[in-house]
Amino acid sequence: MTIEQARQRIEELSKAIHHHNYQYYILDNPDISDYDFDMLLNELIALEKEFPSLIQPDSPTQKVGGGVTKQFVQVKHSRPMLSLSNTYSEGELEEFFTRVKNLLGHDNVDYVCELKYDGVAISIKYADGILTQALTRGDGVQGDDVTANIKTIKSVPLRLHGNYPPELEVRGEVIMPHDSFLKLNQEREDIGETPFANPRNAASGSLKLQQSSLVAKRGLDCILYFVYDDYHSFFSHYDSIKSIGEYGFKIEPYFKICHDKQDVFNFINYWDKERKNLPFDIDGIVIKVNNLSYQQQLGFTAKNPRWAIAYKFQAERACTTLLSIDYQVGRTGVVTPVANMEPVLLAGTVVKRATMHNADFIRDMDIRTGDKVYIEKGGEIIPKIVAVDTEHRSADSQPLQFISRCPHCGTLLVRNEGEAAYYCPNNRYCPPQIKGKLIHFIGRKAMNIEDLGEEKIELLFDNGLVRNIADFYRLDYDKLIGLTKIYTQNDQTRTIAFREKTVENILSAIDKSKQQTFEKVLFAIGIRYVGETSAKKIAKHFGNIDNLKQASLEQLMEVEDVGEKVAQSVIQYLADDHNWQIIQDLRAFGVQMSCRQTQEILSEKLQGLTFVVSGSFDTPDRRKEIEEMIELHGGKKVDSVSKKVNYIIAGANMGPSKLSKARDLGIPIITEQDFLKML
Ligand code: IVH
Repeated sequence: MTIEQARQRIEELSKAIHHHNYQYYILDNPDISDYDFDMLLNELIALEKEFPSLIQPDSPTQKVGGGVTKQFVQVKHSRPMLSLSNTYSEGELEEFFTRVKNLLGHDNVDYVCELKYDGVAISIKYADGILTQALTRGDGVQGDDVTANIKTIKSVPLRLHGNYPPELEVRGEVIMPHDSFLKLNQEREDIGETPFANPRNAASGSLKLQQSSLVAKRGLDCILYFVYDDYHSFFSHYDSIKSIGEYGFKIEPYFKICHDKQDVFNFINYWDKERKNLPFDIDGIVIKVNNLSYQQQLGFTAKNPRWAIAYKFQAERACTTLLSIDYQVGRTGVVTPVANMEPVLLAGTVVKRATMHNADFIRDMDIRTGDKVYIEKGGEIIPKIVAVDTEHRSADSQPLQFISRCPHCGTLLVRNEGEAAYYCPNNRYCPPQIKGKLIHFIGRKAMNIEDLGEEKIELLFDNGLVRNIADFYRLDYDKLIGLTKIYTQNDQTRTIAFREKTVENILSAIDKSKQQTFEKVLFAIGIRYVGETSAKKIAKHFGNIDNLKQASLEQLMEVEDVGEKVAQSVIQYLADDHNWQIIQDLRAFGVQMSCRQTQEILSEKLQGLTFVVSGSFDTPDRRKEIEEMIELHGGKKVDSVSKKVNYIIAGANMGPSKLSKARDLGIPIITEQDFLKML
């Protein structure tokens, strides 16, 4: 390669890597696989080694990571947060063992193998056993101060116990386990927001939330794998990790001491197969020299420790042909392109569809129909297209044009500034949007009209019987009886027929839905961004739909967890005459448009008594239930301890300040069982 060719290639590589760093670190939206990214970086490192005069001061190789966001205070790390060098094969790992042996002069070395958690790196500091600061990695030199958010993670101790040193810094990974991830994405879909692509992005997005009360609900977890403790001297990495386990941290539970290379390979092979059974994502194994004085001898390169290495699992990949693209229109009008592919086996399942996210994704990847595409399923749940074979496409292949009109109603699509998605603005008449709204309305968390499912709704819609959510209440026996539809799916035909029993069940379920509380109704009508929880809080705050319609932006934003985006969306929805007419119709049919108050009082046993509920109970909902019971039996529930309080109902770990104040005031502290006895 001539120096001129090298200069050109270095420029190309730097530009691409800067772009991918930005996508990964700032936007949480990586657009190539880790493997492909490492290949680009390795090529750049090799070229810069060969042509050192071409190294630019801002080359991506000079930095540890990407940039940092602006919303948080940025703080310098007391020691840089380095990353590990990656290997992808046993051969490369052999090279690591050889390097260690050559540098130490012997191979009498134990290794610790740990899981490589696929989350967000974090550094947490404690002074005198109290959590004082938590920083993300940022660019490795300085990171975002996310202390308030980290404090909300249940597995992170706020106060240490045992023989902890006066100053301690621990490092680890914040992850989102699969169950939290699935729940969060379901909630996002419920309110018409784009789901996160994978648990790592979800964890990272959660840590960047400005409101820590929202972070607390995200079900994050934190696992620690590194310790800076200048006050104890440990023989090994293993001992140092065990020590912090005793202070109350959640430490890597699967780590293992390996006495030789074969042990390490066995550990890797075991987890390569077993990782699919873990309740969270890992993307490899980390191998660390155990003996700390050996670690010191080995030291660091500019970016990585020489005493550790990551072995990354190959994401399971398959190659197939892109046949066509469907454009799906959701309940809120967002258009999502979906790839139809030649069926292919990937990680044990046949895959024939993959999301293509949005128009930018298609343009940036230059994907065209007929192309060979590579799909991957890392530790991740949803398969994705990660690469396109552009070389073997036919000469007449054309770049894909994203549609400009809605495939269902022909309306010109629009795109809001700063958003990646195109919308069909015809939210009143576009069929998939209407069907989506109808399906949302009957959902279990909404009006819970169990006897109607998606297929029955299609049937009603196709026969012109429901066009909006109020039409459900206009249905009667004569309109429903005898409706039939024949479905063909995978060469099998199925018939849906509305016979007497079906019709009776549907009508009675619709009738029963009139008893659903106002908060469920508010969620069911499908105001964009209003989820189950915000609907509950808004309903409680305003009491009925008329008060809500009168509310100003500021008044709406007084409701806990309601930000400007939600508030604006509520106002816009209720100001629309068409929507308001539907609400009037629903009210006329007997659907609840206000919170029930008086009829819900069950007894007056707690009349005149004031309670504080404090501490944690068996389930997060239990505390709310106890508070509701107080009110249902005529009592009053307050948040802070004062001399007006008659009883404190204490769960586990009641706050120390409340406890001492209650004791000072001589307020009886009772258990949940004592309280139930009072009733
Ligand atoms: S040790 C000096 N151990 O992988 C390096 N890292 O590039 C200390 N990671 O940024 C890191 N699991 O975010 C270590 N068991 C583990 C890990 C782990 C995940 C992440 C970490 C780091 C990246 C390596």
